[in-house]
Amino acid sequence: RPVRLADYRPSDFLIDEVHLDFDLEPSATRVTATLKMRPNPAGDAGAALSLDGDELKLISAAIDGAPLAADELDVSPSNLRIANPPRGPFELTIVTEIDPAANTRLMGLYRSNASYTTQCEAEGFRRITYFLDRPDVLAVYTTRVAGPKDETPVLLSNGNLVEQGELDGGRHFAVWHDPHPKPSYLFALVAGDLGVVEDSFTTVGGRGVALKVFVEHGKEDRALHAMESIKASMKWDEEVFGREYDLDVFMVVAVSHFNMGAMENKGLNVFNDKYVLASPETATDGDYANIEAIIAHEYFHNWTGNRITCRDWFQLCLKEGLTVFRDQEFTSDRRSRPVKRISDVRNLRALQFAEDAGPLAHPVRPQIYHEINNFYTPTVYEKGAEVIRMLKVWIGDDAFRAGMDLYFDRHDGEACTIEQFVACFAETSGRDLTQWMRWYGQAGTPEVIARTAYDASARTFTVEATQKTRPTPGQPTKQPVVIPLVLGLVGPDGADVDLKVGGEKAGPVFTFDRETLRVVFEDVAERPVASLFRNFSAPVKLSSDLTNDDLLFLAARDSDPFNRWQALQTVALRHLVQSTDAVREGRSIAEEPRIAEAVGRAFAPDETDCAYAAQVASLPSEGDVAREIGENVDPEAIHRARSELKGRLRDSLGDALEAAFERLAETGPYSPDPASAGRRALKVAALDLLAAGGARTGVERAHGLYISAGNMTDRVMSLQVLSLSATPEREEALADFAQRYGDDPLLMDKWFLIQASSPLPDTLDRVEALMAAPTFDMKNPNRVRSLIGAFGAANPTQFNRPDGRGYAFVAGVAAELNTSNPQVAARLLGSFRTWRALEPTRRAKAEHALRALASTADLSPDVADIVRRALAES
Ligand code: ARG
Ligand code: ZN
Repeated sequence: RPVRLADYRPSDFLIDEVHLDFDLEPSATRVTATLKMRPNPAGDAGAALSLDGDELKLISAAIDGAPLAADELDVSPSNLRIANPPRGPFELTIVTEIDPAANTRLMGLYRSNASYTTQCEAEGFRRITYFLDRPDVLAVYTTRVAGPKDETPVLLSNGNLVEQGELDGGRHFAVWHDPHPKPSYLFALVAGDLGVVEDSFTTVGGRGVALKVFVEHGKEDRALHAMESIKASMKWDEEVFGREYDLDVFMVVAVSHFNMGAMENKGLNVFNDKYVLASPETATDGDYANIEAIIAHEYFHNWTGNRITCRDWFQLCLKEGLTVFRDQEFTSDRRSRPVKRISDVRNLRALQFAEDAGPLAHPVRPQIYHEINNFYTPTVYEKGAEVIRMLKVWIGDDAFRAGMDLYFDRHDGEACTIEQFVACFAETSGRDLTQWMRWYGQAGTPEVIARTAYDASARTFTVEATQKTRPTPGQPTKQPVVIPLVLGLVGPDGADVDLKVGGEKAGPVFTFDRETLRVVFEDVAERPVASLFRNFSAPVKLSSDLTNDDLLFLAARDSDPFNRWQALQTVALRHLVQSTDAVREGRSIAEEPRIAEAVGRAFAPDETDCAYAAQVASLPSEGDVAREIGENVDPEAIHRARSELKGRLRDSLGDALEAAFERLAETGPYSPDPASAGRRALKVAALDLLAAGGARTGVERAHGLYISAGNMTDRVMSLQVLSLSATPEREEALADFAQRYGDDPLLMDKWFLIQASSPLPDTLDRVEALMAAPTFDMKNPNRVRSLIGAFGAANPTQFNRPDGRGYAFVAGVAAELNTSNPQVAARLLGSFRTWRALEPTRRAKAEHALRALASTADLSPDVADIVRRALAES
């Protein structure tokens, strides 16, 4: 059953044209697929034709108009096989009947809230019709959709609208034609009664593009930000990557029942409504930023994913890593580049480093999978993006841009591999990228240990670094990877020392491609401090011999904003690791007053970059500390150590925090722009410290902000702060929020999430009670993720309860969703990705929950795959 990269073979048949005809009925939709096929010259000449299916019911099949008799085909819900198809071009007509209303898996064509939607990536198209459902079979699609006018006035598919008209019985139809050959996973159909916001964009080449964002009626005013984001994305991709849009219309549809964030179907992007809908009354700064980034991501896929797609699913990072890199750059250009980098690195460490260190670790390009849906991971996406970013740093901006141009030029219209992508950069940079490929093949986060030494008499400064990658499942031994080490030497005056090696100007990028790197810098007049991995130049875990004094100096003086932030984080992280030990051993926690001093600077009255200051003021998370400790982890001790530090910061910075909180109060009307959002983020950072440990004045301030909030960011963030301690204000605010926003599902998701992530000991009881609330709905993935997902992923102490109830609960919900929506069920189990690093009591409870799930009858491939890998002995 496993699929292996090494087993790739071209398809024995090709499909040049697809004509699809949908006759929509909630429980019995007829799909007629007419496929213009021919044998693939690169395939096996005598092969049978074997088409993929999934829970399909065949009505009829014909070749060149002649119905196939029962003995000419083998058919099951998951396959249609014709032993002796024509050996030249032919037309295959297949009629299937599907049940969109019963499709709770939300893959293929499904019906929710009286609308029809499709999701075909990765293997959903085979739930619509029998097909060569693989990304290297590219066809031109024409799609006719017919449905009732009252229920489905809007009928959409990929490409351009070519015909529409009336039918008998209150029905109508629309025909769409997409001239760009595409794989089946990019097919989409949407039909429903939807409101629309319209605008237009003229491309640099003069093509007029109609832009349409479809939302539920009455929510049109919440689609304007998404629309602005589309236009900004189109312009940016022209300016920065030279990529122009290629159809007459670009559509986005917001749907409320969706397994993932969004999907880049050609010309018809389908979105989780959470990543479309925003208005000042209903959205937070974070929502505005997410929408902009995800609209950009899906739009950018038009070139990196659609025009050039993947040969097979092992190459997923070819489109995802690259497109994440592109959306990160877009956000960096529109907002603060350093702040974006810091938040991306926080996220990378929290999710991808955690994945890489545990039983689910896999390479950016996996070599084997049982269920491809489980490989839409932080490793493929975020580490995949880091590999591209490193490549750009390593070969330089010009060779990188030339390589991208070459890639677009050479491979437009093709289904490609990582090798083909990387070859473009080898050509434009003139470098040998053979060893570079290890980034794609080797799992695990490289660990770098750096030592520095100053020799005053020789006026030299030596940086010595070693790299090591630990074993990961299936990969016991590792080889060195090519690490672009960007560094600076910061002199006592805070200025960078000129880098000179072997009598020549050197750096700032150093190639670190073997186990040990040693660089001796010359002519260094005074002892500098090394600023290593500036701007996080490689996704590695660094430990160095820099002292806290060195780091605090960097925190104040380094010209690299990322490392200024990182330096203080490292000091705080070291302190938290030591404090955690102290908590576990019943010792008292040592003082480190200089942390408060450095954090205090973020709240200084003259601080103008509030978004950056908010990052400085946010301590490493409990997850960061757990990863640093690495094994025998006690989440409760970490929580106590971190709470203690927050309390000390509150005690020593109280006045500065109060002053900042006052100074940053809202004045004018709400605007989600980055500077205003930055002020709110810094204000909340102050509030979070003021309310540490449930301190009275802080709680009162949080409550005051909750009540008086003039925007959703202040309201949600103050509620979040209140949710951390058991106070009457907390209960009052939670009740008020439900009262105000009870009928807005996306806002109730925030309410669920805040309660599910509270560290209070009654949280699990609450979560269980909330599952029974009328606003909760197990069939809606957003509800499930906001309550159960958040409990598992964003609540280290309560998910990891020492009694094991947290594990049993999440595993139990996964078992419940196993049949109805296996993909969402498997996702929930992601919270077990670090279970092996726990202390023995919790580890045993987590293992017990996983084993109980493993022994459940009829596990879906999705859930079985995660459970099996989570439990495997490496
Ligand atoms: N391609 C989509 C994106 O933009 C995500 C699709 C996720 N599919 C899945 N089967 N999980 O990233
Ligand atoms: Zn994507």
